[in-house]
Amino acid sequence: MNNKKKFIIGITGSSGILYGIQFLKVLAKYIEGESHLIISDSAKIVLKKELNLNISNYNEFMEFCLKDIQVPVHKFILENNNNIGAKPASGSYIHNGMVIIPCSMKTLSGIANGYSTNLIERSAEVCLKERRKLILVPRETPLNLIHIENMRKITLSGGIILPASPGFYHNPKTIEDLLNFICGKILNLLDIEQKLFPSWKG
Ligand SMILES: Cc1cc2nc3c(=O)[nH]c(=O)nc-3n(C[C@H](O)[C@H](O)[C@H](O)COP(=O)(O)O)c2cc1C
Repeated sequence: MNNKKKFIIGITGSSGILYGIQFLKVLAKYIEGESHLIISDSAKIVLKKELNLNISNYNEFMEFCLKDIQVPVHKFILENNNNIGAKPASGSYIHNGMVIIPCSMKTLSGIANGYSTNLIERSAEVCLKERRKLILVPRETPLNLIHIENMRKITLSGGIILPASPGFYHNPKTIEDLLNFICGKILNLLDIEQKLFPSWKG
């Protein structure tokens, strides 16, 4: 594999859809490569609710995501979540990892229990079986024992739970600062150096 990065990105119907959009922006701005992007139907409902954004038109959605970025260095290939025959559904498709941001408790449950009903869940299942990096960014509070057990199962299977729970020690001033904290943590886990938030000076 060359230096260009290849990821699978899922955006599901959890609150905090801006985390997903910010992650796309960060990739487009800083990380050379391409990603398969899968957006669940519920994510489209939350996009409408939280950002008043209708994504029946994919180009308009990407325009919204990338509007501040002049020359994106990352390419996004939109996949249909119902197409369980798409490339990321197969273990023979090599990539650098999958991120589900934000990740609903429903998708988390599907992954934890090996019950894949769509391309996002199937791609995550494949990551675990192929021992590839899988990072889930759940946003739910409070948690019940079923949520916690599902996170435990995924962790034991090699997945990484990275809650949408930004730190405040870098003195964030804007929502973007908070989003970047989480995006930076994801890049760290993907072994990509980043300067999205100042490192702790002690
Ligand atoms: C406005 C809105 C906000 C939601 N927020 C959350 C949330 O924060 N966390 C969560 O787990 N589910 C949340 N849900 C519920 C999920 O969308 C629902 O469980 C859905 O079936 C998830 O499907 P998906 O994982 O295929 O996207 C929310 C739903 C709506 C309409």
